[in-house]
Amino acid sequence: MWTKKDLQKLIKDKMGDYLFIVVSNRQPYVHVLKKGQVVCQRGAGGVITALDPVMQACNGIWVAFGSGEADRQASDSEGKIMVPPDSPSYTLKRVWLSKEEENGYYYGYSNEALWPLCHMAFQRPTFRTNDWQYYKTVNEKFAKAIIKEVGKKRAFIWIQDYHLCLLPKMLKEMAPKQLVVAHFWHIPWPNYETFRICPQKKEILEGLLANDLLGFHIRYHCDNFIDIIDREIESKIDRERFAIVRSKRETLIRPYPISVDFEGISEIANSAQVRDASKALEEEYGLSRYKVLLGLDRIDYTKGIPERLLAVDRLLEKHPELKEKIVFLQMGEISRIHIPKYKALNDEINALVEQINWKHSTEGWKPVILVRRHLSFHELLAFYRLGDICIVSSLHDGMNLVAKEFISSRSDEGGMLVLSQFTGAARELIESITINPYDRDQFSQGILEAIKLPDKERIRRMRKMRKVVQQNNIFRWAGKILSELLKFEFKE
Ligand code: F6P
Repeated sequence: MWTKKDLQKLIKDKMGDYLFIVVSNRQPYVHVLKKGQVVCQRGAGGVITALDPVMQACNGIWVAFGSGEADRQASDSEGKIMVPPDSPSYTLKRVWLSKEEENGYYYGYSNEALWPLCHMAFQRPTFRTNDWQYYKTVNEKFAKAIIKEVGKKRAFIWIQDYHLCLLPKMLKEMAPKQLVVAHFWHIPWPNYETFRICPQKKEILEGLLANDLLGFHIRYHCDNFIDIIDREIESKIDRERFAIVRSKRETLIRPYPISVDFEGISEIANSAQVRDASKALEEEYGLSRYKVLLGLDRIDYTKGIPERLLAVDRLLEKHPELKEKIVFLQMGEISRIHIPKYKALNDEINALVEQINWKHSTEGWKPVILVRRHLSFHELLAFYRLGDICIVSSLHDGMNLVAKEFISSRSDEGGMLVLSQFTGAARELIESITINPYDRDQFSQGILEAIKLPDKERIRRMRKMRKVVQQNNIFRWAGKILSELLKFEFKE
């Protein structure tokens, strides 16, 4: 089993004097103003959950967009600050973007073009030339910031996600001999039929092929990528080594299922602080008398939140005896709210909650509680510990770390997971109750099955899933990628 120590040792033994730089759009720590005071918060989202423990183990530099209102105040003149605040162990270097750049690159091209293009959630992508221009400009800004850090050194660069497709090529052009570059794609990679509509497809593929190593969560996404390269780009595909060769340059394509820090989460979830927080939340939301169904997501149309609410509705229609016995607690952090589809989704969720509560509520009881606020990590774990059943119903998801966090937090062997078959996690967590979020009856039946699961069988399944996440933990994910990355040699 990979541990944080193994990862640290790998880096210490093999990284030598080379620089190690992680790059992502979202920063691991954000500075905000609360009552006039600068406060540091841990950022939200899967990439951060995964990489913060990795960076704490390897003391490198993390380059990201400085999006917080108090970020400039908290950083030095080069946009740098040591993090995490309670035990500073690596450098966060912030890249500053104008409002127009943020709009075009983040809200526009990344999240209105690439996000719907890669997720099969039947949302039509919007490709605006203007957004694409900003996407290029911002990728270039990141490239320049990184090259400034690299200076004359040699560096291993590890890029995250779909916001930075063009960065690998830009970096390799700016410093061809000094860099080894890997890229991990945190969302699904679509098939050819879907991808071919993208007007900028050639530039995106060329950008990604400048990586030495390109990782996806699952083999299926690797196959999709290779198939697209085969049809779109002149190259040699080495199917035995899973590599794409172009003019003597090679990109290895590999599946690396991402995970969470199982031991770390288990430990914190067992702490007195989380236990107290659980108690407080139980009281605040009046949950003690009910079986708690839990949903916990960024509010995003790929997460299947309306589908989940409708499945709860169907469950209560078919089984009114469950009234006053269950409560569905949906936690949702607002996300990408400036995009009309996200705003519309928020409104849809509000309306559905209203409707379902009106339809089924009795005196003193309502079936759905919607909580929308930022959760600290301790609060997040406290919620996981409160849930009898955690429901993950993504319409399409590269992996889904909520499922793995929930499993990791249940060292008490409590709880059960209801999981969409369209998540990467469903391939590993086969002891969960898998559902099709598009099939309302089957979905509600799955929730009922979880409610009725005898304790002995539930514990057996939870133990198995906990073993899986413990083995395939975040350090294994990072260790495997870094082991491959560190095999590359710098060009003479
Ligand atoms: O998991 C995919 C992902 O895009 C991550 O890269 C990101 O951290 C997360 O979703 C949240 O999205 P955003 O950074 O746009 O809030």
